[in-house]
Amino acid sequence: LSTTLILLMAGYLSGSWLGALTVCRLARVRDPRFAGSCNPGFSNVLRLHGKRLALATLVLDAAKGMPVLWLAKGQGLPPWAQGLVGLGVLLGHSYPLWHHFRGGKGVASAFGVLLVLTPAVALSCAVCWALLAWRVRTAAIASLASATLAPLLSLWMAPDYVLVILVFALLVLARHVWNIRRLGRGREPRLDEGATARR
Ligand code: G3P
Repeated sequence: LSTTLILLMAGYLSGSWLGALTVCRLARVRDPRFAGSCNPGFSNVLRLHGKRLALATLVLDAAKGMPVLWLAKGQGLPPWAQGLVGLGVLLGHSYPLWHHFRGGKGVASAFGVLLVLTPAVALSCAVCWALLAWRVRTAAIASLASATLAPLLSLWMAPDYVLVILVFALLVLARHVWNIRRLGRGREPRLDEGATARR
């Protein structure tokens, strides 16, 4: 149990590091928390600053939880404990210690965590996200659909992780409450336009 708790804390701390802020600081461009959707994530960076910085944000946010998840797997922790460590990463990203607990929506970090726990589910969701984002040009729709798909897919692709993935999905869905409201009002910005909506 103490290994799980230590890794959970390590997951939370690594999740608290927001890729979007590092990337935008290094590139000396506007902080995504104060422009567009005000979300420090790859979609907002894409709309504000283009593909190159968005890709860097995606890679950093997906990769940050991986070392601690590899450790959790390597230590032979049971699936529920690996899930707890992954949840730490997502909570860190969404409620980061270093940024007044105001973080992102957890899509890229959930992808990174799932890539270690169950690559088949992670890659299927990534394909779903990319296809939908390409088709409807709206990140939130792609994220909501992928988050809904993940627990369903895990029922047959990764039964040991169903509960864990359900919790991840609920957290990601809850973080999209403002997107859902904007979608309802027809005011959600598309990926190919500069966002003006505020959360
Ligand atoms: O990946 C986050 C995405 O689902 C929504 O982000 O910036 O469009 O609110 P954003």
